Amino acid sequence: MTDSRAMNAAPKTTRLAEYEGFPYAVESVDLTFDLHPTETRVTQISVWKKITAGVTSLELNGKDLKRISVKIDGELVDESRLVEIDESLLIRQVPDAFTLEVVTQINPEANTALEGLYLSNGMFCTQCEAEGFRRITYYPDRPDVMSSFTTRITADPEYPVLLSNGNLISDTKIKDGRRVVVWEDPFPKPCYLFALVGGNLAAERDSFVTMSGREIDLRIYVEKKDLNRTRYALESLKRAMAWDEDVYGREYDLDIFMIVAVSHFNMGAMENKGLNIFNSSCVLASPEAATDQAFQRIEAIVAHEYFHNWSGNRVTCRDWFQLSLKEGFTVFRDSEFSADINSRAVKRIQDVNFLRSAQFTEDSGPTAHPVQPPEYQEISNFYTLTIYEKGAEVVRMIRTLLGPELFRRGSDLYFERYDGQAVTIKEFVGAMAEVSGRDFGQFMCWYEQPGTPRLQVYMDHDSVTGQLTIQFDQRAPAIAEIDSHKAYLIPISYQLIDRESGQVLVPETLFELSQTSASVTHEDVKGNPVISVLRGLSAPVKLEMTRPVADLIALARFDDDGVSRWDAIQDLYIQSIGHLLKDPDSPIDQALIDLVCELIRDPQMVQDPACLAEMLTLPQDNILWDIFQPGDPQAILSARKQLRQTLADGASKYWKILFETMTPEGPYQPEASAIGRRSLAITALTYLAKIEQVDTILEDLFNNASNLTERFAAYRIARSDAAPHLSDALSQKFLDGADTDEVLDLWLSTEATNERTATIERVKELTGHERFAWTNPNRVRAVLGAFANRNVKAFYSAAGYRLLADSVLKLDAMNPQIAARLVMPLCQWARFEPSYQDKMKSELRRIISQNLSKDLFEIVSKSID
Ligand code: PHE
Ligand code: ZN
Repeated sequence: MTDSRAMNAAPKTTRLAEYEGFPYAVESVDLTFDLHPTETRVTQISVWKKITAGVTSLELNGKDLKRISVKIDGELVDESRLVEIDESLLIRQVPDAFTLEVVTQINPEANTALEGLYLSNGMFCTQCEAEGFRRITYYPDRPDVMSSFTTRITADPEYPVLLSNGNLISDTKIKDGRRVVVWEDPFPKPCYLFALVGGNLAAERDSFVTMSGREIDLRIYVEKKDLNRTRYALESLKRAMAWDEDVYGREYDLDIFMIVAVSHFNMGAMENKGLNIFNSSCVLASPEAATDQAFQRIEAIVAHEYFHNWSGNRVTCRDWFQLSLKEGFTVFRDSEFSADINSRAVKRIQDVNFLRSAQFTEDSGPTAHPVQPPEYQEISNFYTLTIYEKGAEVVRMIRTLLGPELFRRGSDLYFERYDGQAVTIKEFVGAMAEVSGRDFGQFMCWYEQPGTPRLQVYMDHDSVTGQLTIQFDQRAPAIAEIDSHKAYLIPISYQLIDRESGQVLVPETLFELSQTSASVTHEDVKGNPVISVLRGLSAPVKLEMTRPVADLIALARFDDDGVSRWDAIQDLYIQSIGHLLKDPDSPIDQALIDLVCELIRDPQMVQDPACLAEMLTLPQDNILWDIFQPGDPQAILSARKQLRQTLADGASKYWKILFETMTPEGPYQPEASAIGRRSLAITALTYLAKIEQVDTILEDLFNNASNLTERFAAYRIARSDAAPHLSDALSQKFLDGADTDEVLDLWLSTEATNERTATIERVKELTGHERFAWTNPNRVRAVLGAFANRNVKAFYSAAGYRLLADSVLKLDAMNPQIAARLVMPLCQWARFEPSYQDKMKSELRRIISQNLSKDLFEIVSKSID
């Protein structure tokens, strides 16, 4: 056994500039698993051929493996020819072509890192991306080594369902009720896409007929108790399959597509070829046990993993520096899918909000990195918002620059030319360049430079001649390296409207800013022009522009771009909070209150309730912290509360009616328009609770709702300061009704965050709850993740930081990936006032003085240099 806990002293850095191809090709891999909870035997028989002259040894990866035997062409390899260092095994003096036979033994039950083969509620499952395959057998654990895999699984009768990638070839009974099943995946793949599942599972089945008329067998495997919660994911899968055919011309390739739900999983889900493995929270849904948000997330994730079959699996990544090649593109694909089946404007607002609050934070903090990082210590730390969300924005800009038709031609070319290959971001952009004849040289900055560029916009209008000049200046990201920074190519979509009438004065125009500064002129512009700029967030930049209140009001009232409207009112909220931070007694601008009332009354807005709900929601902490730094999180929290109270009072006559008229009637439907109505109804109820007694409404909603969304809202609102008399009772009832893990997690996270009762003591108590387990990442995220990310009042204190640091250290010994993610909020100390900074840093120093995993060490060391 090798030691899985690296010493802090010598973390190895992997660099893109040092990439070298692997000197051998693997023609086929035959794996045999003899499943056993503590002693699983894995036999690998693989066929190798040298492709680089002069090489005589073979370097394989392996981690936490018990090596039983290594044979080449049937002969045991002598120990003297084997060198094992770190995570690799070197076999010396191998022939030019040979068959390798390796037997290893592993302990799935002891595997709490949830990488490689592990047990989740007694069921065997695997997670191999990025570097988990090395915990199964010795192999070149890198995505550019592709091979076809055959998997043979032997197990006791208590594991009746035995799955792997590809097609089922045989299923044979052997003695004592044991069985052997064989799966064969005809598509060559890197080992990170390998998967195996063994357990006592039930399946929900369906089928899909592809564009060429092939019938695909679809299955979702779950624990038996969850069979009644699989339908929505299956329907989503079919919608995603049809969409990928319509929009990208991509057809599914194998005859079977399986999804398996597991309760212990580090991430959301995984796109293993033909056998996607999902965190149960990202696949199981029913009206009683999933909120609207969960339904929408499930649909998006099912689609995301399915879309990877082309963007990731058929065309894969050469190395992990290319991670965004598959993730950025696939997030872009899934967000377009969601936009097409729900509301495009609302989906874009939500994505932009998430990008700005979370990715912009990452992009200005200690772990900022380019979409194509130049180096890493631990690749698991690079499954980030930058790789995923900013990566998707970069693909979106390519489409904006090319237009939809050329973009589709580019994607067709990319898929056709590189099918079956492991490629780089350069090949993807190259295909887009080729079909359009465009030079993407400057555009590559988006992949290569970290940080969020800033955009300044100045307008000069001569009301007599009508001449209007708009000047665009780009400024480097705050974290940019001044000497080497290059100007970005920024697609800026803008439009001009009249401040009073809202009439469009200059229709939507796309300006490509390639210099540091450039301007455009329009003639004959009448009226009072207001610019709607970066429409739909046409580039992931920060707009640095002090916009007069009157302009923002005009945009919020009239703009025909949903994101722009929403962005304008958000800016007004931010300005108000800024005033309150300077002087808590400063009055809120009546114009803002009037605007809110007008939007609520606007018949057109009420047609789009989800959009209105977004507009009535105040900016999140992360956004405010970014603007008012170094800030005092407690002061920002109270300023925001004060603004919320003012809006609640100012629009007091509308909340009740809005709540009543918007609550959808009839049976629950998790589709966009009903979701939008519920979202507005609940937003209104939240405001209503700030101005009057809502006990009866909450109790009624809690007891009679047809769905979890409303029931959960009633509990959540009661638990805040709205209904202290009801609070404990509804909390208990919600817990009593929590018969699934997903509902339990909603309860845990609400209990860990609600301002009134979620003290440090309460959070500690939750980690001692009988249904809490440190080994289950969903429970940890529900309590500690929610606490650190959403409970400003309790977390931003010496005791709060200590609780997080203690938890991170405890987790690091079990699951380094989860520990490294959980520590993040502490690493953002630079955004706060010195009194906060010192306490946060001292906890980080305490963490780094311990013996840490590579994962945690990389994150913490970057944060306290
Ligand atoms: N590749 C997965 C996805 O984004 C995410 C993932 C990464 C899952 C690593 C597990 C481990 O679809
Ligand atoms: Zn993905």
